[in-house]
Amino acid sequence: MMKRRPLIAGNWKMNLSVDDSIKLVREIAANTDQLEGVEVLVAPPFTALSAVKEAIGNSRIFLGAQNIHWEMSGAYTGEISGTMLQEAGCTHVIIGHSERRSLFKETSEIIDFKAKAASLLGLVPILCIGETLEQREGGQTFAVLREQLVLSLNNYRTDRMMPPSTILAYEPVWAIGTGKTATPLQAQEVHRFIREWIDKNFDSGTASQVRILYGGSVKPDNISDLMSKEDIDGALVGGASLKADSFLQIIRFDER
Ligand code: 13P
Repeated sequence: MMKRRPLIAGNWKMNLSVDDSIKLVREIAANTDQLEGVEVLVAPPFTALSAVKEAIGNSRIFLGAQNIHWEMSGAYTGEISGTMLQEAGCTHVIIGHSERRSLFKETSEIIDFKAKAASLLGLVPILCIGETLEQREGGQTFAVLREQLVLSLNNYRTDRMMPPSTILAYEPVWAIGTGKTATPLQAQEVHRFIREWIDKNFDSGTASQVRILYGGSVKPDNISDLMSKEDIDGALVGGASLKADSFLQIIRFDER
C-alpha cells in the first residue's frame, strides 16, 4: 500500500493583512525548504491569495482558498469561481467548513456542488465534516457524519468515483477555537469510520489513498499524539497557523 503523505494545512480564516500574510508565508517557506516527508499548505483570505502565491515563489508550500462558488462565471455577486482561484495560484480549496455550514447556512447539497466544481477543474477539495457538542453528547456522532458524507459527496457517489487526491477534514465543531481537542483516540475512531465509509461506497484503493485531516484546537503540544494514529494523515490548523513559530512546530511534529 502506498503510504499517505502527511499534510499540515493552515486555515487563516478572516485574519491577517496582505503585508502580514506575506511575512508569515515567507517565514514558513524559509524554515520548511529542506523539509522532506510532509506537505504544507496555507489558506489565506481571497484578497491575499495572489500576493501569497508570489511570496511562495519556488518553495513547496501549497496554496488553498477557503471557499469556492460552484459555477465557473456569471451573475453571482460577491462570489469567486474555481477558475479565479486557479488564476490566483490555488491548487486546493477548503469546502464546507463548519463556519460556512453554520454561519452562512451552507448545506451539504451546496457543498456537494462545490466539491464537484473543484474536481472538474482539478482543484483539490479539502472537504470538512464534523458534529456539534450536542450531537456528540446525544450519541449521534456517527449518524451525523454519515449523513454529511452521503450528501456532501453525492456527485462522487453518482459517478462511482472519488478522486483519490480528495482530502477530507474531520473538524468536531466543539473543538474549533475552543482549546478542547478531540483525544487522539476519539479522532482516530472517527477517521477510521470515514475511511471505512469510503471503502464501502467507493473502493479500498481510494480509501487507502484519501487523506483525512484532523482539525480543532491543534497545537504544538498535541500534534504528535494525533499524528501517531493510523488514520490521521495531517491537520487543518486555525489559530495556531497564524504565528510562524507555532505553525512551524506543528509542521515539525515528528521531531518532537
Ligand atoms: P482552531 O485550530 O483555531 O481550533 O481552528 C480549527 C479550524 O477551524 C481549522 O479549519
